[in-house]
Amino acid sequence: MAVTATGARTPFIAGNWKMNLDHLQAIAFVQKLAWSLKDARFDFDEVEVAVFPPFTDLRSVQTLISADKLSLRFGAQDVSAHDSGAYTGEISGAFLAALECGYVIIGHSERRTLHLETDEQVGAKAVAALKHGITPVICVGETADDLAEHGPSAVPVAQLTTALENVAAGAEIVVAYEPVWAIGSGQAATPEQAEQVAAALREVVRTRLGEDAASATRVLYGGSVKASNIASFMRQPNVDGALVGGASLNVEEFSSICRFKSHVGT
Ligand code: 13P
Repeated sequence: MAVTATGARTPFIAGNWKMNLDHLQAIAFVQKLAWSLKDARFDFDEVEVAVFPPFTDLRSVQTLISADKLSLRFGAQDVSAHDSGAYTGEISGAFLAALECGYVIIGHSERRTLHLETDEQVGAKAVAALKHGITPVICVGETADDLAEHGPSAVPVAQLTTALENVAAGAEIVVAYEPVWAIGSGQAATPEQAEQVAAALREVVRTRLGEDAASATRVLYGGSVKASNIASFMRQPNVDGALVGGASLNVEEFSSICRFKSHVGT
């Protein structure tokens, strides 16, 4: 649920496992994470938590979450723009929907850099996800060169503007602002920069998808998020959560990030 009864956006903590953990390791990890959060009396109505394992883990994670009635959500790391056919190696949104994926990450900087994905392809994948009832987590972010040349907002704003071109007004999406230079570098953006770009991205959502979507859309920050810096990001009014890479692979660290409310004042 993106918005609570009081109209506030539900914070969203997402763990992007990237190409880590096979299906057996995934089962052990999700069990441990669920125990850790249960021990801490974590309230999933207050903060939504999702993991994004590799495709080959999804069936195992789905089965575990369903059998143990866990409140964790899960999603995939990519989706095809096509429904079916001669697209070797691609995965249809229909297949992800059949596995009860609630979310799918789209346009991660690693896909943009290593697989040359364009903003137009990101947009087509977002449309495909929505068609199958899956919420796209659309990733945008500037490189260090972009930052030096254009400042922090211009490139992410342009990326999101194009990606939302064919997305219907009012659609439920999540936006993740991940500065490329902050990913895996240990050097996170400042909370002020994250807030500045998140506010600019919310304006893009307002222009493209309308007022209701702008107030309901969660904008996440990603890039070297840890338990020790999550609180500073969550204090920003336009930052509604985090897309966590490396730190999402450590149960205790990720569990602590999910429990940012207990250290938000620190
Ligand atoms: P790190 O948290 O490892 O910097 O990765 C961020 C990321 O790419 C999440 O999608």
